[in-house]
Amino acid sequence: MSKVAIFGYGTIGSGVVEVLNKKREYIEKQVGEEISVKYVLDLRDFPGDPIEKILVHDVQVILDDPEVDIVVEVMGGVHPAYEYVKSALLAGKSAVTSNKALVAACGPELLKIARERKLNFQFEASVGGGIPIIRPLEDALTAGDASGIYGILNGTTNYMLTKMFDDEMSYEDALAQAQALGYAERDPSADVEGFDACRKISILASVTSGKFVDYQEIPTRGIVGITQEDMSIADLLGYGIKLIGSFSRENGKNYAEVTPMLVPFDHALYPVKDVFNGILVDGDVNGAIMFYGSGAGKLPTAGAVVADIIDIARNAGRTIQAGYSEEKLELADLSARERAFYVRVAGGSEDQAQAFASSFGADSYTEIESGTYAFITAPMTRAAADKLCADAEGNINIIPVIG
Ligand code: HSE
Repeated sequence: MSKVAIFGYGTIGSGVVEVLNKKREYIEKQVGEEISVKYVLDLRDFPGDPIEKILVHDVQVILDDPEVDIVVEVMGGVHPAYEYVKSALLAGKSAVTSNKALVAACGPELLKIARERKLNFQFEASVGGGIPIIRPLEDALTAGDASGIYGILNGTTNYMLTKMFDDEMSYEDALAQAQALGYAERDPSADVEGFDACRKISILASVTSGKFVDYQEIPTRGIVGITQEDMSIADLLGYGIKLIGSFSRENGKNYAEVTPMLVPFDHALYPVKDVFNGILVDGDVNGAIMFYGSGAGKLPTAGAVVADIIDIARNAGRTIQAGYSEEKLELADLSARERAFYVRVAGGSEDQAQAFASSFGADSYTEIESGTYAFITAPMTRAAADKLCADAEGNINIIPVIG
């Protein structure tokens, strides 16, 4: 029998308890033995809740109990999650987490400790909520040597951008609505500044490459500054605007970034709307594969956590996930990579607009309203595009086109 301890009885922790209880018989059949929750750790009391009897406030009780073989960390934040998970691994217990901040900051060390002790540190729920993505990247797609990952990894901003695009809502109203629906993180800057998506793409890039991709080295731009006007113009030009976390390998170079991108109407990520997540994995063997589903939420996320628990219970005594090493993957300078950009310029005459668009190699430009023009550039480096913009007059907004 596997005995589990859960660190944190918030939304996801209570979801994990619910799924393990509701699916008890099914899980027992899958694993060949019972999985039961022995402890729930939380600072708070939960009078009247069925977990009251197994609630503890001191992590040491769990660490000292040899019967507990799997801990589940669903508290969020790096500290004390890191100390608790590391202590559990050192005490011979495998660990599962949904916490992207913990994995992005401490993944290499925790994976190493797990490997050295024939244990597991698993984190399927840390990216894409209920969407299975870590395991497919680890298993089925490894032969394909994924060459590119493009993901809508943050439900809150995807919801906001959908409202701005489909319902012509302002940025401020879309944020207020996302917060009212409980989608946004407590501090919305984690979502709207792209920090949440940055941690998630760093995890996917690390799993794919086998080396540590440090989230602090990933150029990150959120959706602050994207206006309803940009949305309408993109629509006129045949594109939506999505916040994309990407990792790609070209000519031996590795690129990672988080940025709003123009996504053409016929692209697989275009129909990913509202709070949903979508991840497109390009492989040289498998071709393009699309993962789509609920990127957050109590039960989908809890389901991914429970899948990790089952995986560990079935494979007691061996490390099943290769994970990635502590060696850092070198990221190349994005400003030297060629691609197309959307350029919006406000201010200037029609003649200036024509000359300006031509200097970017654009075939044509669209006049949005008097004095405001937009066009899609020929493939060029960001450095070259920025230089042209610096030499020009007017208020200019520039956004890369996906691909
Ligand atoms: N704030 C996150 C999102 C929660 O909106 O996607 C899930 O990680």
